[in-house]
Amino acid sequence: MKPLLAALNRQPTKHPPIWLMRQAGRYLPEYRDIRRRVTSFLELCYTPELATEVTLQPIRRFGLDAAILFSDILVVPHALGRNVRFLEGEGPQLDPVETDRDVDALTDGFRMAVLDPVIETVTRLRAALDDQTALIGFAGAPWTVACYMIDGSTSRDWPKSRHMAFGAPDRMDRLLAALVECTERYLVRQVEAGAEVVQLFESWAGILPDTAFERFVIRPTADLVERLRQRFPTLPIVGFPRGAGALYETYARGTGVVGVSLDSTVPLSWARERLAPTWVVQGNLDPMLLVVGGSAMDRSARRIVEQLGPSGFIFNLGHGVVPETPPGHVEALVRTVRSL
Ligand code: CP3
Repeated sequence: MKPLLAALNRQPTKHPPIWLMRQAGRYLPEYRDIRRRVTSFLELCYTPELATEVTLQPIRRFGLDAAILFSDILVVPHALGRNVRFLEGEGPQLDPVETDRDVDALTDGFRMAVLDPVIETVTRLRAALDDQTALIGFAGAPWTVACYMIDGSTSRDWPKSRHMAFGAPDRMDRLLAALVECTERYLVRQVEAGAEVVQLFESWAGILPDTAFERFVIRPTADLVERLRQRFPTLPIVGFPRGAGALYETYARGTGVVGVSLDSTVPLSWARERLAPTWVVQGNLDPMLLVVGGSAMDRSARRIVEQLGPSGFIFNLGHGVVPETPPGHVEALVRTVRSL
């Protein structure tokens, strides 16, 4: 069995499997070469030949245990008919969803055909990967995608999204229900095309009080997980509720995921006691330690493996690889983790 799938099934592996969030991207010169060939980031996501190539670049270079489909969480609002732009150096920009009318327009507004090229990329990837390297599909979790759709660009505290959650909770529920629906359809297509694991990115799990977390993070995710499980009973689903803090355990229990991806602030001893016995844990090296490299990175990586390994554990970062990361440090990290 592929090491990543073995770990997700709590089977022993020779070494902890390792992959890295944002393992494809601007820190790799070969990515920047391909990126220059297209005029927009979305064009890269929607060109199967190029998206396949950039997905495979870190696999060829580092021999990681999994490839993650190259795409973005914001292709879903794009396929819902929202205007989504990625401006150079400024991150994503969307026209904000504000009114009940805006939300109503999303129902039946999903055009799966917009995402057909992404599915074609999944098909090509599965054919290209060897029998040791797993293919991870993904989507943004409903709350996080809603945050981008409502606030319109990356924010530290997402004021419009929290305003809608507290001031018009029924509107928020309907927006999240629309996202559950189309995210399910999108992920079903990814799995049918060859994705072997699905990761749900809840990057903005950490901005809500607990009752709102229950309603707007856990409930829609549990709904999505349940629908996927009906279609694919053995599909491993991993959730990444970044910043959820003390709510990590509530999230894992309430959503029904088999694995949780830990951000770098989750204490290892707590994760070992409260999460690891029940859920596969993934994480959680601080991405800045990958920039620093050397003995600081090595020591931290060893501690993570000692505390969370050996079984039911996947090595990863606590968030994505940053552009200033020296590729040589990724190579060194893979060597360290494989030596343990
Ligand atoms: O290698 C991989 O991990 C697969 C590809 C992937 C991308 N984005 C490519 C990307 C994945 C899994 C994502 C997820 C994603 N996208 C998340 C969840 C994880 C997280 O980081 O919290 C979020 C919030 C987004 C939305 C998004 N996309 C932002 C905020 C930005 C701008 C910030 C930035 O790093 O530029 C993006 C753009 C983006 N997505 C890039 C890449 C490689 C950089 C754009 C470019 O190369 O021009």
